[in-house]
Amino acid sequence: MSEDQLEDYDDYDETDVLVVGSGIAGLAAALGAAREGADVTVATKATRPEGASSWWAQGGIAVSRDDPAQFKQDILDASAGTADPGAVDVLVDEANDAVQDVLVDTLDVEFDTNGEEWDFGREAAHDEPRILHVDAATGRAIHVPFLNYLDDHDAVAVRDDTAALELVTHEGRVHGALLEHGGDVTPTFAGATVLATGGIGDLYPRSTNPDGSTGDGIAMAALAGAEVADMEYVQFHPTVFPGREAEDDGGEAGPFLVSEAVRGEGAVLRNADGDRFMPAIHEAAELAPRDVVARAVNTEIERTGEVRLDVSPLDFAAEFPDLASKAEDRGIDWTAGIPVAPAEHFLCGGVAVDDRGRTTLDRCFAVGECARTGVHGANRLASTSLLEGLVWGLRAGESAASIDGTVDVIE
Ligand code: SIN
Repeated sequence: MSEDQLEDYDDYDETDVLVVGSGIAGLAAALGAAREGADVTVATKATRPEGASSWWAQGGIAVSRDDPAQFKQDILDASAGTADPGAVDVLVDEANDAVQDVLVDTLDVEFDTNGEEWDFGREAAHDEPRILHVDAATGRAIHVPFLNYLDDHDAVAVRDDTAALELVTHEGRVHGALLEHGGDVTPTFAGATVLATGGIGDLYPRSTNPDGSTGDGIAMAALAGAEVADMEYVQFHPTVFPGREAEDDGGEAGPFLVSEAVRGEGAVLRNADGDRFMPAIHEAAELAPRDVVARAVNTEIERTGEVRLDVSPLDFAAEFPDLASKAEDRGIDWTAGIPVAPAEHFLCGGVAVDDRGRTTLDRCFAVGECARTGVHGANRLASTSLLEGLVWGLRAGESAASIDGTVDVIE
């Protein structure tokens, strides 16, 4: 968007920090910037609240407990050595404090407990149980209070049904974005712009992402000249109910994710012959890294026709009531196992950023799934995406707020 093109617009808005997107990363960026005294505008095209991927997150949010070194090692191992150790240090070193400060002390999220203690869950490729969760609906339990908190914050304006179309750039800097609401397109000029637009799942026939995950922030940044990296590192989740033919029975038909936490509690994978196949493939069996399990599930579906997640080793209805009712809504007799297949789940690459979310464009940041921090390398460890959004969101928001405070209005 050039200066000449901006002359087409009669009106404009101004803000210190413009955040595009309303998942946990965008909301954390808004919080981080507001805490530093900035006026923040959050523009989101996502229907509230379920349009943001964060709302759909099931398993939970990993913390380092008392063994940060092992948590770092697990992330590096799951990525088969492709993650950036410096970025992993940032994530893990800030995990416990960020979760305590924002989720517990600020938003009052009530993670599941075992008596007085948090009930840490276990997921694939984690050496120990370290995942805070709320049933298997953790994203929802974080996202809704976060939106409510920022709605009530004097320094933050959340603009719903508002899509960012293009970054406003001038003399090598980003000065905000063109925003569309109800068919009207208006520039919003900002001292700093934070992209938090999520992933690309809507580009795939089967994905765990909500509709509208179309990589908007990555496209806008790339078109403005930002470096984009590792776009081939797309993660597939191994256990997604792939959906069924819609029948005239009034029931749900669509796909749904069956959280890795279910395997963490003992569920096993069986092929159409009823045989377990993971123990022969990896020493951690069903808790092998996600890419290993996804490939094995795909192979067994091709070879035998079907893979089911056998939940009989656990008290499924009691431990995962939300998932049990999703299955029942689709007419699945889960006592006979839940049919599963891999589906697109998470983009590990994205807009290249540093440890504060700075892109290669001046005054432009990217956080969450649209950013490539290097934390995940080619294969993300379970329950680190909400954490990455939280940690990088806060850091980027703080840095965005510290940019010299002047908003450049280009006329
Ligand atoms: C899951 O619950 O299996 C997904 C967790 C994640 O993607 O980190």
